[in-house]
Amino acid sequence: MKKSNHIQMNAKPQNRREFLRKSIGTAAILSAPGILSARAKGSNQRIGIGFIGAGGRSTGHMRMVKQLKEAGEAVDLVAVCDIYRPRGDDKASRFKIARIYETCEELLDDPDVDAVVISTPDHHHAPQAIKAIRAGKDVYCEKPVSHWSQFAVTKKLAEVVASSDRVFQLGTQAMSDPVWKQMKKLVQEGLIGQPLQAETGYFRTGDWGERGMRIDDPNARSGRDINWEAFLGDAPKREFSVDRFFRWRLFKDYAGGPVTDLYPHSVTQVVDILGLSLPERVVGLGAIDRYDYHLREVPDSFNLVAHYPEKVMLTVMGTQGNNVQGITKRGSGFRTPVIRGWDGTLSIRPDNKHILFYPTQGRGIDHGKPPRQIPIEGTENFENYWRTFLTAIRERKPENSASSMDLAYRTQTLLQMAMKSHIEGTAVTRPDGAMG
Ligand SMILES: NC(=O)c1ccc[n+]([C@@H]2O[C@H](COP(=O)([O-])OP(=O)(O)OC[C@H]3O[C@@H](n4cnc5c(N)ncnc54)[C@H](O)[C@@H]3O)[C@@H](O)[C@H]2O)c1
Repeated sequence: MKKSNHIQMNAKPQNRREFLRKSIGTAAILSAPGILSARAKGSNQRIGIGFIGAGGRSTGHMRMVKQLKEAGEAVDLVAVCDIYRPRGDDKASRFKIARIYETCEELLDDPDVDAVVISTPDHHHAPQAIKAIRAGKDVYCEKPVSHWSQFAVTKKLAEVVASSDRVFQLGTQAMSDPVWKQMKKLVQEGLIGQPLQAETGYFRTGDWGERGMRIDDPNARSGRDINWEAFLGDAPKREFSVDRFFRWRLFKDYAGGPVTDLYPHSVTQVVDILGLSLPERVVGLGAIDRYDYHLREVPDSFNLVAHYPEKVMLTVMGTQGNNVQGITKRGSGFRTPVIRGWDGTLSIRPDNKHILFYPTQGRGIDHGKPPRQIPIEGTENFENYWRTFLTAIRERKPENSASSMDLAYRTQTLLQMAMKSHIEGTAVTRPDGAMG
């Protein structure tokens, strides 16, 4: 096989608008309706943050915004909304947030909210992000960018973001780790030649379903305590259930298990490093192997293989078992990616301080020869991740998002196809609606 000296598919990296224009179509981007014009924000003006969802994850965001404010960042915790009032009240009093709303729509009507943080269950992310962008807000949206079944709405969100000047950043905070930009640069410079295959994954021992999710109030009622209709949103209509509400991660109407809950953290950077578009074929296989109890519908183990038009094969693995690479501390349970090209292989040394490059030697890697070591220039940093979001808003530079919507679209379409493959028991080729 002929060796390449440069990368054939990625010689010129695409920016988000170029990618979306190709994958969605310019007409669709230009015709996305109803986006309010941006309110001008000077570089010193305070950015008012509204929090949509006041559960577990929102605490981390509120804490960080408070910390940034105390450190002198011009930012305010303006409002919170939750369809379960006790959580909204609790967070408002803990973080001194003056305005409490029940629904996302009420919060989006607040003119003092400039940017929102979406930390609701998966099936709300994309619909709420679309509403927020159309209301003229910048968006920090938790991963996954959408529910596993929402192909069309994910694409719609990509169109809406691309046709606006709003900043969109996905909650894949591992993207703040400089190692991924370094690896991307090495790949773009042609170090590994034509990319061929990548493997990554996430091995985290623990149940974040029934035992992981607390039921705050077993006697909570629909209507009196919880706006059940608002919780369901576009999900299938179901009778009210305390389990469904408080332990939504167990149910496939609202969650997908590790493939959508954990893999955005380990796949997004690989998709970015290799500049992958949308997969042409995906096989996903999940199972309930460890936490097998009556309520669980979503898998706890999940493996997938995808093939891309760029002639790259991607493998993602995960089970409820220990990760031997977890001891490297580059994310708990996160599996260090291995990226193979015609001319060599990239990975990360277990000390987390060096990228490793193994040049291809004839019939394979020469294990007798030490790999080249490239020092890593930092580590994951949630505070920097938040600062990047705020700076992109102030400078009105959506392209500076640390984890953009077009990257989220490409990553999520892969994960959605994998879940669809698992459910249907067959390989999935590019679904209608994913490519336009
Ligand atoms: N980036 C990360 O590391 C990370 C970590 C944890 C969770 N997350 C993500 O954050 C999201 C939330 O997870 P969580 O653990 O906080 O869940 P949670 O159940 O603790 O919180 C969700 C909150 O949303 C509220 N809610 C539900 N529907 C709503 C609606 N329509 N409008 C307003 N509020 C609504 C619920 O009442 C609940 O308080 C998930 O999608 C998860 O994947 C990301």
